[in-house]
Formats: sequence, C-alpha cells, structure tokens
Amino acid sequence: MNLALLASVAVLLGTGVSGWLAPVGLTQPLDVAHQVAGVALVLGLAAKYGIARRSLRRRGLAAAGVLLGVATAVAVALTAGLGLAWTVGAVSFDRPFPYSAMSLHVIAGLALGLLVVAHALVRGERRPPLGSLMTRRAALRGLALFGGSLVLATLLDAVGLPRRFTGSRHAGSFSGDQLPVTIWAFDTVPQIDIGSWRLRVSGRVERPGEITYAELLSFSRHEVSAVLDCTGGWWSEQRWSGVRLGDVVGSRAALQSATAIEVISVTGHRWSFDRGEAERALLATHIGGEPISTGHGYPVRLVPSGHRGFTWIKWIDEIRVV
Ligand code: HEM
Repeated sequence: MNLALLASVAVLLGTGVSGWLAPVGLTQPLDVAHQVAGVALVLGLAAKYGIARRSLRRRGLAAAGVLLGVATAVAVALTAGLGLAWTVGAVSFDRPFPYSAMSLHVIAGLALGLLVVAHALVRGERRPPLGSLMTRRAALRGLALFGGSLVLATLLDAVGLPRRFTGSRHAGSFSGDQLPVTIWAFDTVPQIDIGSWRLRVSGRVERPGEITYAELLSFSRHEVSAVLDCTGGWWSEQRWSGVRLGDVVGSRAALQSATAIEVISVTGHRWSFDRGEAERALLATHIGGEPISTGHGYPVRLVPSGHRGFTWIKWIDEIRVV
C-alpha cells in the first residue's frame, strides 16, 4: 500500500506540473490522470491510516520520523482536500480567499512532494525486497484501487461545477479590461513612462535596435479572440489587438539560422518560444478596443494563443532572437 501511495504522489506531481507546462491542447489526458490518481491517493490513505496507527502504537510518538510522517499527512490532507474541493466547486480562484485556492493546492502539492521523498528516505529503510511485494493479491488490490478511483473520479466530475478541461473556472468573457489581474509570483506591477519606454529587438537579427510606442503602433494591426487560461485556475476569452511579433522581428531582419524567440518583461520575467510559434503570436496593445491597463501589461503584452497564462508576458521591453 505504501508503494501504491508513493506511485500516486509521483503521478500527481508529474501530471500536475506537466499539465501546467504543456500547450493547452495537450493537457486533457494529463488532467484525467491527475484526477484518477488524486482519488486513488485519498482511497489508499484509508488503508495507510491502519498501517500508521499500528506503527505509532509499536514505536511511540517520540520515534524518529514520526514528526515528518505527521507533516506529510497534513500536507496530503491540505493538497487532496483543496483539490477535491476545487473539483466539486466548494472553493474557487476568488473564494473563500482572494488568493486562488488552486494556487494553494499547487504550493501544498509541491511541498508534499518534498516531504514524501524525505519520509520515504527516513522510513523506507526496512522495506522488503520489491520482488516479494509483487504478489497476485497485491496486483488485484492495485487493479481494484484503480477501477474504484476511475468510477469515483467520473462521478465527482459529473457533480462538480462547470470548468474547462484544464480544470479552470470561467471568469467572464469579452469584458474588456475586467478580467482578474494575476501576477507571476515574483513580479510587482511596474509603473512605465511611455515616453522613455522602448521595445528592444536583440540577438540574431541584422539590425538590432529599439522601437518607440508610436513606431510599434504604426505596424500593420491585427485582432484575435483568444482564451487566457491562467494556472491560478480561471479562464477568460477576450478580443486582443496589436501587431504580429513576426512583423516586428522581420523589420529588423531576423537571421535564417535563428530557431527560438525569447520575450522579456521590464520585470525580468521571460519565456522562450519556438520561432514559428512566436512569430505568429500577437504583441497586444489593446483589449476590447481599449489600451491594455497597467495591471494587464501596459504598454504591450504577448498573446501566444493556446499557451497557459504565465507565458503571456506582460510589460514587454525586449524581444531576443536566439
Ligand atoms: C502531489 C501532490 C498533489 C496531490 C495529492 C493532488 C491531488 C489532487 C486531487 C485529489 C484533486 C481532485 C481530483 C478530482 O477532481 O477527482 C486535484 C485536482 C487538481 N490538481 Fe492536484 N494534486 C497534487 C499536485 C498538483 C500539482 C503540482 C498541480 C499543478 C501544478 C495540480 C493541479 C491540479 C488541478 C488543475 C486540479 C483540478 C482538476 C479539475 O478540476 O479538473 N495538482 N489534485
């Protein structure tokens, strides 16, 4: 049972983190696997409770590793509790606290990953050889746990409040600037003086240099309807308008050999994209026909349709062709 729990946590961490990093179109199977493993973990914990109680009675509260075990149990309860509460709609990105319950779930989940490794190192020393654990009975139990989890996860899905296939909740669409302001964990909103702001185009281009806001606005304009799906647990579709990133790097003659483009914020937050994908992305100056507000990335923000919100770089001041 301990091994099944360890495997569930590994799957949860793997599917949780890769579901964040993958393009939105690829996340659905990861999300389903995450839900099934989440339910399997909760069911498996019922059996683990018996193991932990017997071990505590035998070894006493002061034994080595007990504190770590208790901390791991608290982290599991917090992570799985917030995950399940999210799925059935008891918590959301704006309630019961203004900070998203999904972000708390992720922080608790990552802490749990570290604790489980430490707990396994301290308590796993007397684990029987792996071969002796692979019995027919164990395999049948594993199958039953998987089947039960699949059924329960499907039922939870059916009773839960509507959410996108990424797990995100709808935060209203086509509302102009009225979508939630979520900021990458280590950023604060910068105050930008548009007179001195410049967009630097650097790296593998024939003519590196700077572009003013007025020059940026004079490029051919485009509009797209795109869904911003934030890993904080909300999504919103808006009309974004601006200029193609490909036109901007093209005006500086990007070298044929360049393969990637890095987009960098005034605050230092950055993300690198495959060149073709980046060139198709929009450098948005307007949302719903109005200039983007400071909180949403004024003067210019990247709109890489199909990628999660933390890659929609705000307050851009450099495009580096790599
Ligand atoms: C190892 C720690 C983790 C545990 C124990 C855990 C557990 C859970 C559980 C029990 C659920 C509810 C499943 C259901 O609806 O049936 C859930 C949902 C969710 N978790 Fe995790 N999780 C962990 C880590 C993560 C990480 C690291 C991420 C993201 C980086 C993440 C993202 C999500 C998302 C987006 C949902 C909502 C899915 C939906 O509503 O469709 N989780 N998690």
